[in-house]
Order: sequence, then structure tokens, then C-alpha cells
Amino acid sequence: MIAEYAQICRKCTPEPILTNGRIRYAVGMSKINPSAVVNAPFPANDSLGDPTGWDGVGGVASAINLSAWTAANRHLMVPPVSNKYLFSGKDFFVMLIAGPNARNDFHMTNSEEYFMQLQGDVSIRVRDAHGIRDIILREGEAMFIPGGVPHRPQRGPNTLGLVVERRRPPTETEHMIFFCEKCDALVYDQEFACSDIVKHFREAMEAFWADPKLCTCPSCGTRVPKPSPRTA
Ligand SMILES: [Fe+2]
Repeated sequence: MIAEYAQICRKCTPEPILTNGRIRYAVGMSKINPSAVVNAPFPANDSLGDPTGWDGVGGVASAINLSAWTAANRHLMVPPVSNKYLFSGKDFFVMLIAGPNARNDFHMTNSEEYFMQLQGDVSIRVRDAHGIRDIILREGEAMFIPGGVPHRPQRGPNTLGLVVERRRPPTETEHMIFFCEKCDALVYDQEFACSDIVKHFREAMEAFWADPKLCTCPSCGTRVPKPSPRTA
């Protein structure tokens, strides 16, 4: 499709137009090297089957109806994180998260995260310069989490949120941090490279909750339990 459009552009603007000594193009696309465009790969889905934004032949994929998409994928959005990729792009990815989730970890990375709440209200616990506090993100509201801020989304049933995150630079790692619910001591801070946030976070959390050596507070001996899905 793009190749065809570029061809049309070359036809209608065979040469750049000179105006007051400056080169201008009647159509911006005429500056694109069409062979480079034609030869570029256009996978409609990434290796995990998630949409890339392309339709597979070099066209932009059609818009997605979020209600229909959520209904079709709801059974795949399960605790602990309850997330699924809506788009898996080169520069950033978009996830929908359908509550309930079941998390007692704090996520932290140097990347920024954009949260938008589509259905129901949720609570995001953050640890920042003001201390430990819960920020309520209500239906229709958006928030932005700067890099380096530990955050713990708490999502109840019948909620739906959208989160946008950037692709991590090769040297950037994730932190999955657990604090003791009794004395707030640091229990475990796992730093790891994460190429797939949906798969790797689930695996890392399950491994932590299953290992008493990892999930027992070194300060007071209280175990960090595997949480049940939230009921509210
Ligand atoms: Fe996060």
C-alpha cells in the first residue's frame, strides 16, 4: 500500500519544486526511498502473536474496538498481573489490565509509565518523596509514573486499565521489590532483564512466593504471602 502511494507521489511530483530558491516537495512522501519501504518487513504480529500496528503487507492495521477486544481476551488476563498486550511496538508497548490482580510487589524501572483508567477505580501505591501512599486512579483519569518510583497497582474486579510503557534500552533492568507487610523491611529486590513483561513478571512472582528463603522477612520473620485476587 505504501509502495503504491509512493509511486503515485513520484508520478505527481517527479521533481522537487523550487520556490524562492528553496526546495519544497508537494507531497512529503516523495522524499521517501520507495525501495527501502517495499523491502522493510511488515509483521502484523510479533513473535508472541501480539499486534504490531501493521497489517502484514505494509499498511497500517485497522483500529481496534477496545470493548470487543477485551471481551475476546478477558480469559487470558488473569492474576497475578492480569495484563495483556494490546499493541507490541518497536518503541513502546500498550497493555490492557483487567482486574482483579493479585500483587504485593512494587515494580520499579527507570522507564516512565502512563496509566489510563477505562473502567472502575483502582489504587496505585507509590513510594516517593512523600512516603508510602495510595493514589486513587478513577475511571476516566490518567496518571504518569516517573522513572525510579516503586509502584504497586491494586486492581479490583470489573476494572479495566490501559498502561503504556517504552521498550527498555538494552542496559535497563526491572526491579520487583517486596517489603514486609508487618515491619516494612525490605524482603527481596529482584533485578532482572525483562523482554516480556507479561510472561516474566508472572514467573518471577510465582518463584518468589514459592520459596520460603526468598519470601521470609529477614528482620521480623514474617512471610510475604501469595495474595489472593482482590475482591474489591
Ligand atoms: Fe510498572
